[in-house]
Parts: sequence; structure tokens; C-alpha cells
Amino acid sequence: MRRSLVAGNWKMNGDKKNIATLVAGLLDLECKADVIIFPPYVYIPQVLASLSDTVIAVGAQNVSERKVGAYTGEVSSEMLRDIGCQYCLVGHSERRSLYGENDRQVAEKFYQAQLAGLKPILCLGETLKQREQGETLGLISAQIDTVLDCAGVSCFSDAIVAYEPIWAIGTGKSAAVDQIQLVHQYIREKLGEFGAKTRILYGGSVTPANTAELLGQADIDGILVGGASLDIGAFSEMCQMA
Ligand code: 13P
Repeated sequence: MRRSLVAGNWKMNGDKKNIATLVAGLLDLECKADVIIFPPYVYIPQVLASLSDTVIAVGAQNVSERKVGAYTGEVSSEMLRDIGCQYCLVGHSERRSLYGENDRQVAEKFYQAQLAGLKPILCLGETLKQREQGETLGLISAQIDTVLDCAGVSCFSDAIVAYEPIWAIGTGKSAAVDQIQLVHQYIREKLGEFGAKTRILYGGSVTPANTAELLGQADIDGILVGGASLDIGAFSEMCQMA
């Protein structure tokens, strides 16, 4: 049985004060599912300290594909592990589209994260154009193949995947639930023997209004929430439904 998971990606939002308020709200969270918060890098220690007596985990929104060395501005998986992070997002579409990360780099990040003992959440998804041209499944397959090639077939024995159609992120347009379910089912089948254990999250304009329907699908094991995770009332509501 796969445990439900609710993840909040705060992206580049917040300041010390506002993050303290968000975290205070998280202390009252009632949730049977696993919860992970992804604050901006510089606030990770603050969030870790404030959540240390809870079961809420903390992760990073990005990580370097390198292990150590002269890579100005980068943060390694080992550093994240060192300060107490358990998870990191890799290949978020904003990293891919705005910062030019390619499948190979994403696969290297995934590999380095696992080597350091972090649990990577591999983000996958297509643009609207790719969807309209019928390229969604082929693209997702290629993204997964690059990870398999780099990290080996067993890398999915303890990983999490997030399907985030790029056109649904921050747009208020969530993909149709049956379309999402089909993609999730495809990803699970693609992961072969590890598919049944792998948690596959959906992200893209998730709100309290569509959470229950999403989580009711056979292959949607959780949600990766952007904008609505900054509203503690909305986030708590989504956690309660999971
Ligand atoms: P929104 O929920 O704001 O669409 O963002 C989704 C996302 O990118 C989560 O990683």
C-alpha cells in the first residue's frame, strides 16, 4: 500500500517573518498522509528547526548534479543531507524551462541525490504544444529513460515521481483528471517491477477544490502543490483530504 503524500513547493516566495507564520500554521496540521515542505534554500534551516518536533519533512527545490568542488552558487546533495533535509525536487519544469536544465543534468542530480541519501522527487511533464502534438507519453518515457541510463534500474526502488504538465503550473488550469490518471498509469507501467511501490504525485494548479478528485484516482498517490501551499488554510484542507 502506497502512503499518500502532500508536498508544498514554496518556490521563491516568503521572508523570515512570513515563513515563521506559515510554519506555525503547519504545527497544527492534521494529516494522515506524509507531508514535505520545500522552502527556498536560505530558509531551510529555519523551517527544519521549527518542524523538528513534527513528522513533517523538509526538502530542497533543487540540487547540484556535482558532488563537490568549484561550482559557484551550487548546493550539493551532501550539504542538504548534512543539514537535515530528506528530500529534493529534481527537474522541476521551471528549472528545465527557465534555467535550461536538460534530461541528462536532471538524471545526474537524481543520481547524486540518491548517492548522498536524499530522496529525489523526479519532476516530469510536457508543454501544451507537446501535448497537442501527442508527444506527452514519448517525452515522459525519454525523461525516465535518461534517469534509468544514468542511475540504473534499481534507482526507482526508493524514489518519488511528480507529473506536472507545464501548461497547468500556476495557470489555474489543472489537466483533466482522466488525462492525468492515464499518464500516471503509464509512468507506473514504465517503472516495471518498481512501479507498484513508487509514489506518483500530480502537480499543476492543485487547490482544495480538485484535491479529493485527484486523490481518488488509482494511480495518483499525492499532490505537489505550488501557489496554494502558501495559504496555510488551503494547504491544511488539502492535507486533511489526503
Ligand atoms: P501551482 O500549484 O502553483 O500550479 O504549482 C505547481 C508546481 O509547480 C509545484 O511544484
